[in-house]
Amino acid sequence: MAETQTKDAFVKFDRVQKSYDGETLVVKDLNLSMPKGEFLTMLGPSGSGKTTCLMMLAGFETATHGEILLDGRPINNIPPHKRGIGMVFQNYALFPHMTVAENLSFPLEVRGIGKSEREEKIKRALDMVQMGQFGGRRPAQLSGGQQQRIALSRALVFEPELVLMDEPLGALDKQLREHMQFEITRLAHELGITTVYVTHDQTEALTMSDRVAVFDDGRIQQLAPPDVLYEEPQNSFVAQFIGENNTLEGVVKEMKGSDLCVVQLDDGELIDAKPVNVSKAGERTRVSIRPERVEFNKERLQPGAHLLKAEVLEFIYMGDIFRTRLRVAGNEDFVVKTRNAPDQVRLTPGQQIEIGWLPGDCRALDA
Ligand SMILES: Nc1ncnc2c1ncn2[C@@H]1O[C@H](COP(=O)(O)OP(=O)(O)OP(=O)(O)O)[C@@H](O)[C@H]1O
Ligand SMILES: [Mg+2]
Repeated sequence: MAETQTKDAFVKFDRVQKSYDGETLVVKDLNLSMPKGEFLTMLGPSGSGKTTCLMMLAGFETATHGEILLDGRPINNIPPHKRGIGMVFQNYALFPHMTVAENLSFPLEVRGIGKSEREEKIKRALDMVQMGQFGGRRPAQLSGGQQQRIALSRALVFEPELVLMDEPLGALDKQLREHMQFEITRLAHELGITTVYVTHDQTEALTMSDRVAVFDDGRIQQLAPPDVLYEEPQNSFVAQFIGENNTLEGVVKEMKGSDLCVVQLDDGELIDAKPVNVSKAGERTRVSIRPERVEFNKERLQPGAHLLKAEVLEFIYMGDIFRTRLRVAGNEDFVVKTRNAPDQVRLTPGQQIEIGWLPGDCRALDA
């Protein structure tokens, strides 16, 4: 049974730790299993250990503790070039003295692939990134975005089963970046490639990935598909890090089963919330609610919903949405986003209103 489980995971980090100096762990007890063909993104603040994880998987760094398995086999002792992994790292540049075609030919030659097959594969890899005309150029004769597309096709040219990308779109402007995000996921899915992608851009992570691992302080704080991550953050860090979020601080007043608790906010008001990582009365908590889940149109609220007093501080018309900043229970940065619709209320600064939400949309998290 254990063997089948290991086989199902194409990439597996098993209790992996990493320390560079023998004292501080920059990766702490990492457990992660990826099925074949998955597109997984590691997302997190600077220094949280993302690149270190990728480097260990690539074989440029070794784990201090634990084991990394590829297709069921430990890879700790296999040198990087024998792992059959395609890589696009920000500082893993193209060879400047070679033409584009020679750059792509290199990983094929290393693998002993004959000339005519090489030419065929190179053509296909360049066409994939719409760079078929550029085989004869040197990297210096290409724009930054074109170089990144070549780096991508070089990582894919030998049809690796696993591709690692560390902020591959960092240097690109917004438009090209969005185009490449689409291109990368399309290629990965078309070719059935298992991908580990690193970024600190949350939109990129949410739009590209099957699952996202949110890193902080050397640990995975949550590993989930994008919609779950956004809608059901497991702790305050994830709630704050992913998307825009409102928080109100208080104390758990009463637990009412596994789906409901009453929180007394610091200004004395009582609200209902979904207990996520609080378990008993008296615990301090931070309740979290997304800006688009707040309602000030009472007709749209369920009867019995707690309403809170709020003062409008700012109302911004943004075309598709209205963005309202409120003072709620002492928080002056409470943001509400409402869709621009003919019946939607427009507010003015200074106005006193009442707001509410469904208890399930309000999550009681760690303080
Ligand atoms: N070669 C190294 N020697 C010593 N410490 C290192 C080395 N590489 C990284 N570190 C440290 O390990 C920690 C994790 O670094 P890592 O590069 O994995 O973070 P990251 O999540 O990729 O950050 P960023 O988003 O800035 O790229 C940091 O505190 C960093 O200073
Ligand atoms: Mg990094």
